[in-house]
Amino acid sequence: MDNRKRLKEAFVFTLLMVSVSVLLIYFHAETNRQHPGGPSFRIPKVIYGAQKASSPEPHWEVPGPYHVAYPRNYKFVMDDTQTCKNTTPFLILMVPVATKDFQSRNLIRRTWGREKIVLNKLVETIFAVGLPGEGDAQQLTETLKQESMQYRDLIQSNFVDSYHNLTIKTMVMMEWLAKYCSKASFVIKVDSDVVVHVNNLVKLLLAPNTPKQNYMTGLVWWHSPVLRSPFNKFYMPLSVISEPEYPPYPLGMAYVMSLDLPPKILNVSLQIKPIYIEDAYLGMCLKRLGISPTDPPEETMFLVNPQHPLNSCTLSKLIATTTTSVSQVSWYWHMIKRGVWC
Ligand SMILES: *[C@@H]1O[C@H](CO)[C@@H](O)[C@H](O)[C@H]1NC(C)=O
Ligand SMILES: *[C@@H]1O[C@H](CO)[C@@H](O)[C@H](O)[C@H]1NC(C)=O
Repeated sequence: MDNRKRLKEAFVFTLLMVSVSVLLIYFHAETNRQHPGGPSFRIPKVIYGAQKASSPEPHWEVPGPYHVAYPRNYKFVMDDTQTCKNTTPFLILMVPVATKDFQSRNLIRRTWGREKIVLNKLVETIFAVGLPGEGDAQQLTETLKQESMQYRDLIQSNFVDSYHNLTIKTMVMMEWLAKYCSKASFVIKVDSDVVVHVNNLVKLLLAPNTPKQNYMTGLVWWHSPVLRSPFNKFYMPLSVISEPEYPPYPLGMAYVMSLDLPPKILNVSLQIKPIYIEDAYLGMCLKRLGISPTDPPEETMFLVNPQHPLNSCTLSKLIATTTTSVSQVSWYWHMIKRGVWC
């Protein structure tokens, strides 16, 4: 009898302990997860660049693998260009490129980045680089200085340039554009493996129904899923973004914006912790601004990974396409120059 009672007591006690543990684990998980269906992307408790003025040495939170550190104190260590300082371009071709990638810069200078006056409008090219990561940094810096003296089209910020840091690169480009180019009209951010039909782009931007403000276009991904497989290149855990989709954004290979946007984007970016996927991050900023990207008038204007080689007719309708080789950029540009048609 006594034995059975003790057994019963032990059973009840164990049951109680297990229940309490389960409840504790549940509440812990609940407080750590975001609420789906919330109005917008979560505003993090700690915001880069928004440290209290009282702390003498800002010490930035370690960003972890899915965020990047954008403390807003990166500086341009090279900026010898006259663009936007002594000129007022209609269109800026802004090309983020790896610091050591002299080959792409020279190719672009010889091809689509070469045209200065297009349909009577001033077009200027700027290459954006960061600091070289490893290897012969000193040699590279020297060569880069000479390149900048020669072409005056380079801007270099002092963050370490790497694929993972692309969002930082995008944001420092926004800073540069906001600082110098508020009188210019449009910018297209183009990756260095893309070929641009500058004439078609200027034509689009001059069209009467193209908005002059709050305008962003490109290959818009309206329903880009947040990828949850850890094996995916763009993996993003639920703990960082709980929504199943990113807000709409134009694909990073080439996007166009009116130049009222960079200061607005920088402004709201204070409230949104930067993730390492730069184009999706811009989409998050746009959403916070209440601005939607715009589809281009023809879906054939922006192409990503198309079936190469493209024919004359396809090129004639194009604004930007990714390419697979240096010779392809050259070849397409020469075709466009000679004249393409359907
Ligand atoms: C990104 O840039 C920061 C600042 O320069 C640097 O500390 C960090 O190592 C860079 N990250 C990568 C992955 O290169
Ligand atoms: C930045 O945000 C503040 C506060 O929301 C606003 O007053 C200001 O006009 C904004 N500036 C720009 C350039 O959007």
